Amino acid sequence: MSIIVSPRLRAKALTMLFVLSLYCMFACAPEKGVQVNLIPEPVSIKSGIGYYKLDSAKVMKEGLDSFVHGKIDFSLKDIGEEGYILSVTPEKVELSATTSAGLFYGKKTICQLLTSQGLPCVEIKDYPRFPYRGMHLDVSRHFFPKEEVLKLLDEMAYYKMNTFHFHLTDNGGWRIQIDKYPKLTSMGAYRVEKDWQKWWEGSIREFCSENTPGAYGGYYTKDDIREILRYAAERHIKVIPEIEFPAHSDEVFVGYPELCCMGKSYTSGEFCIGNEKTFTFMKDVLTEIMELFPSKYIHVGGDEARKNEWKTCPKCQDLMKKRNMKSVDELQCYIIQQAETFLNSRGRTMVGWDEILKNNLDSSSIVMSYRGQRGAIMAANKGYRAVMTPGEVLYFDWYQAEPRTQPQAMYGFSPIKKMYSFNPVPTDSVVAARNEELVKSKPISPDTMMYIQPQNAHRIIGVQGSTWAEFIPDEEHLEYMIFPRLLAVAEIAWTPQQNREWQSFKCRVNTHIPQLKQRGIRPFTFSDEMELTTRIVSDRKGVEVTLDTEKTPVEIRYTTDGSEPSKHSSVYEQPFILNKETLVKAAIFKGDQILGKVLEKQVSVSEEIKNYYEYHD
Ligand code: ACM
Repeated sequence: MSIIVSPRLRAKALTMLFVLSLYCMFACAPEKGVQVNLIPEPVSIKSGIGYYKLDSAKVMKEGLDSFVHGKIDFSLKDIGEEGYILSVTPEKVELSATTSAGLFYGKKTICQLLTSQGLPCVEIKDYPRFPYRGMHLDVSRHFFPKEEVLKLLDEMAYYKMNTFHFHLTDNGGWRIQIDKYPKLTSMGAYRVEKDWQKWWEGSIREFCSENTPGAYGGYYTKDDIREILRYAAERHIKVIPEIEFPAHSDEVFVGYPELCCMGKSYTSGEFCIGNEKTFTFMKDVLTEIMELFPSKYIHVGGDEARKNEWKTCPKCQDLMKKRNMKSVDELQCYIIQQAETFLNSRGRTMVGWDEILKNNLDSSSIVMSYRGQRGAIMAANKGYRAVMTPGEVLYFDWYQAEPRTQPQAMYGFSPIKKMYSFNPVPTDSVVAARNEELVKSKPISPDTMMYIQPQNAHRIIGVQGSTWAEFIPDEEHLEYMIFPRLLAVAEIAWTPQQNREWQSFKCRVNTHIPQLKQRGIRPFTFSDEMELTTRIVSDRKGVEVTLDTEKTPVEIRYTTDGSEPSKHSSVYEQPFILNKETLVKAAIFKGDQILGKVLEKQVSVSEEIKNYYEYHD
């Protein structure tokens, strides 16, 4: 069962928690630098001695502003528009930034630093790696109420993410009020079955009206959208709406069948490109979208058109003849180009999935790379800006642990370590190859990998976690799939690559899980699974074995003689070297008890070395 907590109630609860933690404070200051667990990790942090102690009554009344001296200082050139400098001493708390966004992020850091003893003394200089730090949410396959969207925005802001990609239309339902086309929501926002897979693969894949008994769905009114936009703006989050063209549009043709090639509902998911009414519809809808959304960027989809009906549709064929088009691929380019020209004429910029690279794009347009990293690499090298959201690494609908232990998800595997290990700017073949290994989960020769020329690296404007909702039926499950993986994407997006390190992130993310729960989030809490990885040591005579888990702190014990691990087995402290074929067995221990399953792996040193030679010689 899912519980909806109103944002106001949440805000009150958060204030109460904050105040309670202040009541608990005690006076003694620590002797040495204090361990802090910030996510994302700042650019630079120096821990000092002691705490700035807080006047709880004052804080209760006035919040952070009672003790944070925030000032805008335009002379701070090297921290950019979103950076901040924070200095906490036992005497005072000083926060400087060049904009209100910088002050906002500085305050988020302060919230994470607060303890029952006060605010630990630190000197922090911080600014983001990327200007685009995004989360995407598909509200079509399953609908999520406004309150859940606000809850997600709160967490995004807490982790310094600044872009919400709102996937408002798709074949599961149309989710936004459009005044000129009321049948989009009266006929295309509800369906006869909630479970997407049953509905999509079943015999009655149909939409219905809201008042049909058992109808499932919903949509956001324009007032709902305005509230979401206000809430996001207060948290320095930009909202990019996505309206899908020309595919993923089955729900449109229920109310407006004349817009698809056969002129009948349930015959296609793609607009008829030869029909002028398609372009009237597109411009009308985008006009209402632009009236509502102040975002410079408008996403028009562009992905996965099959183009089958276009091959035989007389209107599409006519248009191809008139424009001397050689294939239906050019019809796809035609509608994308129409969308781009229209948006540009209204002062907006088009964003689209990586298929739009087939177009001769305007130089301002932004490519969103989802079929691996190649779309972004190609876009950047051609001079376009790009956002990295490679499906195989950054899709939140993929499994985050052993599938047999998890509820149904999309078919791939993206545990948090895999997500965290992704570097969005592959400027050399080694990084590109490592990314490709993550994507394909198999080694690939670095020499065959394409990569971004270093002079084009700045065209990767950011990174995004994408949450498709086919297998996410409700809010509780949504939070389970998004958290804590969102924290990994937030750190990829904010923290310099050289400051990112899995073992450090792993420790910090484990401390954030109870905090997420305190704020009313229902996260995945990590499994008791273990991972064994191997690496050839430099003299090529042995294999280094690393054991890892997501949970920490835990005790791992292991054997290399085939015996079962017990409380007497060696405690794993660091990677160890094997020089001959060995059966490694390892398990997580809590006291005498084994948690989860015993991991067993035969490590064949000769095989590993042979594979290494194949790839490196
Ligand atoms: C997509 O995953 N079709 C963008």
